[in-house]
Amino acid sequence: MDNRPIGVYDSGIGGLTVFSKLVKLLPDENYLYFGDTENIPYGTKSREELLTITHKIMNFFKEQNVKAVVMACNTTSAVAYDSLKEDYDFTLYPVIQTACKVIANMGIKKIGTLSTEATANSHAYKNQLKKYNPNIEVIEHGCSGKWVEMVENHSQNDKANEPVLKQHLNVVLENNVEKIILGCTHYPYLRNILTNFTGKDIFIDPAEYFVKYIANDLKNNNKLASNKSYEPKFFVSSNPEKFKNSSEIFYKLEELPTLIRR
Ligand code: DGL
Repeated sequence: MDNRPIGVYDSGIGGLTVFSKLVKLLPDENYLYFGDTENIPYGTKSREELLTITHKIMNFFKEQNVKAVVMACNTTSAVAYDSLKEDYDFTLYPVIQTACKVIANMGIKKIGTLSTEATANSHAYKNQLKKYNPNIEVIEHGCSGKWVEMVENHSQNDKANEPVLKQHLNVVLENNVEKIILGCTHYPYLRNILTNFTGKDIFIDPAEYFVKYIANDLKNNNKLASNKSYEPKFFVSSNPEKFKNSSEIFYKLEELPTLIRR
């Protein structure tokens, strides 16, 4: 048994799509969620910038004495995980590398991924899916930063945003893929609206497989908490009010998140 907290992070509210599922599955854990609102968006940043950012977050969690960090961010899982995985003595769970173990073997022959530009340019999805299924065909596409922005601002249902959603979705659809991975933790919030455009729900949210893996891994390593000492604590690097308001419809925060500057 290990009662130390689990750290979860993303650039903003996107990681809550993972966090909310994790809390449902493992309600007795102690959680710390960090939204790096100062540095959002991650998807247009360079590798060097993303490495610096991710190290700062890991060091924050190290100070908090976590037992594990859930990288609920595709972009830093894609770009930074390999470089920092040996640097910390807590367990790291990167979303792409973990979820692809399952998705690669779901019997899909041709799959699309929608993600940030940085994730698409890294080819992390293609590499990981092919690692577990060399025959799978993968069509990766990096979407405009507007996709993340509209989720953060709750403007995804505005008619004015339809063209930018359709434009990127169509690039992948034109390739006749069977399924599309929502390869950015902000995108599951767009699932309903994207399904309106495709006519049927062909989307895969990696979080579903990701949280199950984490739960099993903690269990198998005897690292589950025996009891919860506190409700989830939230931290942001800027603008706590905006984070609390934007997260409202996805996960209700009782208090303002704590502002930490590094
Ligand atoms: N939600 C994050 C991801 O999964 C990052 C989005 C962004 O800040 O660009 O990639």
